[in-house]
Amino acid sequence: MACELRREVFFSHLGSDFDGVRDDREEESIHAVIRGDKGVCACGRLTAIGPAGWVVTQMCVDERWRGRGLGSRILTTLLAQAVKHGGGRIELASRLKAVGFYRRFGFIPAGEPYPSPRTGAMLLRMVLELSAN
Ligand SMILES: CC(C)(COP(=O)(O)OP(=O)(O)OC[C@H]1O[C@@H](n2cnc3c(N)ncnc32)[C@H](O)[C@@H]1OP(=O)(O)O)[C@@H](O)C(=O)NCCC(=O)NCCS
Repeated sequence: MACELRREVFFSHLGSDFDGVRDDREEESIHAVIRGDKGVCACGRLTAIGPAGWVVTQMCVDERWRGRGLGSRILTTLLAQAVKHGGGRIELASRLKAVGFYRRFGFIPAGEPYPSPRTGAMLLRMVLELSAN
């Protein structure tokens, strides 16, 4: 499912034995997924972190499908879910290449870039405040 896409986009350079695609927050999270004829082609995840906070993770689009609005549809869906459930502060850790994508949604950089402990990719924390509906 979405895990195969996550593995391909985020972890393929770490080898097929790498066991970090799922974490212990899968069940409690809200998942947004778009399926194509060959399986999942875009996905993302929204997880509550405290009473008024959320974190978006696992945002990825199959590289054959990028630039066609799927990532935007996934993120729009997740942000709408956060609003529906009371809004609050949305956080994420963006790859440096995707910072411009998140800026379009109003996310603002917070802090300095740092290496992902799991993959080594450089990340930048970004935040967005959303009001409840
Ligand atoms: C980042 C990602 C999720 C964007 O999804 P996408 O489906 O390609 O993006 P969209 O087609 O919805 O793009 C929406 C708009 O943002 C722009 N955009 C897309 N990626 C961008 C980027 N990296 N930087 C700046 N702008 C970007 C597009 O040009 C488009 O603009 P337009 O509306 O004027 O045409 C996708 O490229 C991806 O999976 N990348 C690899 C993994 C990754 O970096 N994940 C996120 C960070 S952890």
